[in-house]
Amino acid sequence: SAAEKGGYDYFMLKEIAEQPKAVADTLLGRIGTDGRLTLDELRISASDLRRVDKVVIVACGTAFHAGMIAKYAIEHWTRIPCEVEVASEFRYRDPILDDRTLVIAISQSGETMDTLMALRHAREQGAKVLAICNTNGSTIPRESDAVLYTHAGPEVAVASTKAFLTQLVACYLVALYLGQVRGTKWGDEILAVIKELGDAPTHIEQVLETMEPVRELARSLADAKSVLFLGRHVGFPVAMEGALKLKELAYMHAEGFAAGELKHGPIALIEEGLPVVVVVPSPRGRSILHDKIVSNIQEIRARGARTIVIAEEGDEAVAPYADHLIRIPATSTLLQPLVSTVPLQVFACELATAKGHEVDQPRNLAKSVTVE
Ligand code: AGP
Repeated sequence: SAAEKGGYDYFMLKEIAEQPKAVADTLLGRIGTDGRLTLDELRISASDLRRVDKVVIVACGTAFHAGMIAKYAIEHWTRIPCEVEVASEFRYRDPILDDRTLVIAISQSGETMDTLMALRHAREQGAKVLAICNTNGSTIPRESDAVLYTHAGPEVAVASTKAFLTQLVACYLVALYLGQVRGTKWGDEILAVIKELGDAPTHIEQVLETMEPVRELARSLADAKSVLFLGRHVGFPVAMEGALKLKELAYMHAEGFAAGELKHGPIALIEEGLPVVVVVPSPRGRSILHDKIVSNIQEIRARGARTIVIAEEGDEAVAPYADHLIRIPATSTLLQPLVSTVPLQVFACELATAKGHEVDQPRNLAKSVTVE
């Protein structure tokens, strides 16, 4: 009913709008004023966490994209090697696991069969499993050694939005907590990140307030045959997430690439007028990443692409090469997905609406996939 949708036409629109609150609720009570994390709910002891010598993340779809981003954060902040794999591939390749492996299973529903089978396999090999989940008491957390709940509230639309942002928050918290219990030196970078996590709800709100041009652009692209998404570093999984949203909602061909891979093949796809969305890393963080992506934008534009550039406020270097410029608030490199994903959700939702598709219930899809 309209009341359930809180006045929005679709659950997806409501859930996109709820993201600042979902992120704030997921942070609530977990970071102290001194910047120290309290995750007492994790039933894995500090001594077990200190013994961990490898992290393996398993998940599907959007949750897998959250896992890809988590890998960058975990390895950078804790120096523990981290792998991430789609759950449906995991157990069939005989992965190397033992009692020093921490497996993180990410799932909104907690009922995804592929993820459940992956975690059962991991536990049989003696690994400890931590679930990141949005559904209290569902099967995945019940079968795990520990759980960190995301507090997105019920997500009804098939296309995941607010659950994804809260999965990112949970992954950042786990990475920071691993660093904390293992005595990683808390330098200025990490303290700044912890503070910035607290600012994320405000940043997301700012993005939501500036989405009208994105909706307009989406409507103008309703007849496009294909859209490409490019990113580097954590912008790469964000690009994949943008493409997945477009596939499931607008039934359009879309692909997300690592921008550096362009020249190894995908650049052959670029033709006059092809819309290409580029997620630009902050020029302040690792500026080499930024320089490289600016040349990627130039390369595709020279070949006729219509460039849709997502870049932080104040990044002027990209402006001359952007046919459409979407601004996001300045953040640190690793936290950018919390803001850069939002325009991609809005873009896909509006494009699907323009095509007359059923936004909350795309064809052929179920909210949780309970078969392998
Ligand atoms: C996301 O928009 C999808 N509908 C889908 O990829 C989903 O993220 C995936 O099936 C995993 O679901 P889960 O988080 O409930 O395990």
